[in-house]
Amino acid sequence: MDKKSQIQHSCVKIYLMGKKILLSGIKPTGRPHIGNYFGAMRQFVELAKDYKSYIFIADYHALNFIQNKAEMKENIIGVLLDYLAIGLDPKEVTLYKQSDVSDHTELTWVFDTITTMPYLMRAHAYKDAEAKSKEIVVGTFNYPMLMATDILLYSPDVVPVGQDQKQHVEIARDTAEKFNHIFGETFKLPEVMIMKDVAVVPGTDGRKMSKSYGNTIPLFAEYVEIKKAVMSIVTDSGEGIPKNVYAIHSLLRPASELLPIYENKTGKYKELKELLIEDLEKFIAPLREKRKEFEKDIPKALAILKAGGEKAKEVASKKMDEVREKIGVNVY
Ligand code: AMP
Ligand code: TRP
Repeated sequence: MDKKSQIQHSCVKIYLMGKKILLSGIKPTGRPHIGNYFGAMRQFVELAKDYKSYIFIADYHALNFIQNKAEMKENIIGVLLDYLAIGLDPKEVTLYKQSDVSDHTELTWVFDTITTMPYLMRAHAYKDAEAKSKEIVVGTFNYPMLMATDILLYSPDVVPVGQDQKQHVEIARDTAEKFNHIFGETFKLPEVMIMKDVAVVPGTDGRKMSKSYGNTIPLFAEYVEIKKAVMSIVTDSGEGIPKNVYAIHSLLRPASELLPIYENKTGKYKELKELLIEDLEKFIAPLREKRKEFEKDIPKALAILKAGGEKAKEVASKKMDEVREKIGVNVY
């Protein structure tokens, strides 16, 4: 490094040191939908300017659902392209995948030893799985512990997520407090960050938009897919404002613009749906095109992910060393 770049490098370092830290992640379990985008991903991009950001791919979490080599690989690359296409800049944001930083799984074990089974049995995800009376794998039961390590290893100030992840962030806070209480001050308590208006984005049937309900509008949908999804939005036969159409539309335009249109066209559901299709296409098309650009050079995208993993590893392994010291296994 020459003198000038050395000075530049130090300036960036000092500048970043003053910034608060943000961390979040997404499971590579399939195509993201506009609920993921408005509930979480958009915040990653908007906040990247003000926070030192760690954004990762939660591939070990996805292993609970995806147990097929080709599908896992495709999904990981998929989320990476999604992240790049929405505008995450690897110069500003550390982009990595969970499985590249083994400290995540190592710390999970340590947390397992200070967490009780009844406590984890109160987690929503576990209760939902139990209600469906599926055979629950230990990985589903333990999901919140891995998520606590994802968060706590990087000492973030904020964790932007949708409403459904609130309890998981609270579990991370509880776990940090418990560890600090037993072994001494080690972990910073993170704050959950939820955007009120988009905490739960509804799907085409009015329930929470979710891959598992089949009610999604994919974030990078082609025009025909947008059309099909919007046409399938459930409307009641009344004369008023079609609630489900309006709720999705309000993600794209402010109420001051949208309400007069809907009030003018009461009962004209087809016209309103057509307008929503056009608005969605306007919003999605540029993202879709950008993603296709990144898709042309997957090795380049993968090099970004690998470099991000190395950067993340430096931070995480320092914290893990501190943990080993605190729990007393550092004897050399
Ligand atoms: P996942 O794909 O389950 O890893 O979710 C990624 C992020 O999207 C998490 O922060 C979720 O809370 C958020 N999310 C998922 N579905 C919705 C939704 N319907 N509305 C708002 N946020 C959501
Ligand atoms: N559990 C999150 C979800 O399903 C994904 C995730 C894993 C996450 N680890 C995280 C989100 C840490 C925020 C911080 O959406």
